[in-house]
Amino acid sequence: MKDIITIDGPSGAGKSTVSRLLAKRLGYQYLDTGALYRAVAWKIKKENANIEDEKSLRNILEKIDITFDEDGIMVDGTDVTSEIRSMGIGELSSKASAKPAVRERLFTIQREFGLKGKIVIEGRDAGTVIFPEAENKFYLDASPEERGMRRFKELKEKNSDIKLETTIDDIKKRDNRDSTRQASPLKRTQDMIYIDTTSLTLEEVVTKIMESLKTP
Ligand code: DC
Repeated sequence: MKDIITIDGPSGAGKSTVSRLLAKRLGYQYLDTGALYRAVAWKIKKENANIEDEKSLRNILEKIDITFDEDGIMVDGTDVTSEIRSMGIGELSSKASAKPAVRERLFTIQREFGLKGKIVIEGRDAGTVIFPEAENKFYLDASPEERGMRRFKELKEKNSDIKLETTIDDIKKRDNRDSTRQASPLKRTQDMIYIDTTSLTLEEVVTKIMESLKTP
């Protein structure tokens, strides 16, 4: 399983940008698993469903059709690539991702896609639950302030009316929820290479990862 690279870590640690560039350099596919959780949240919001109501959640999970490629993600034929990036969907996806039924539904999608090999898979449980057998596992981290600042800049670019304190608070809340939930919490394990990206450039992080890869 040397051709499966897992990258886990909290929100805003730089996982997506790093994983995308890494995949490009290696000629691998890239799977952003957070987008899958966001897609489910998008559907929950659209249907105005209550995630605490197990029956309605199951109903959504049975019906939902998620397709994705390098360029974006579709839910039931609608392109939701940019809509799923809002703070509201981020918050709802974090809540939905704590539900075992949601994780089960997305497990199969991730596993099937990844088993084709030559893949960089990025998320919260890529190296612990989805591909525990992968040999190249990384954990990216950064201080909450730095991660909040990155999110702030991202949202600002879209002219979002947002405050820095709000994005930092949001990051801390999500960290707490993502790492204390019962179902597949965000966890750093011994077999993951830890990289603190707080004061590193994108290039530096990608280089570190490439240098640490176990090659066949
Ligand atoms: O990485 P992101 O911010 O796009 O992820 C959105 C939410 O989905 C995040 O709060 C936690 C959840 N998530 C998860 O539980 N497991 C994953 N593998 C990826 C994301």
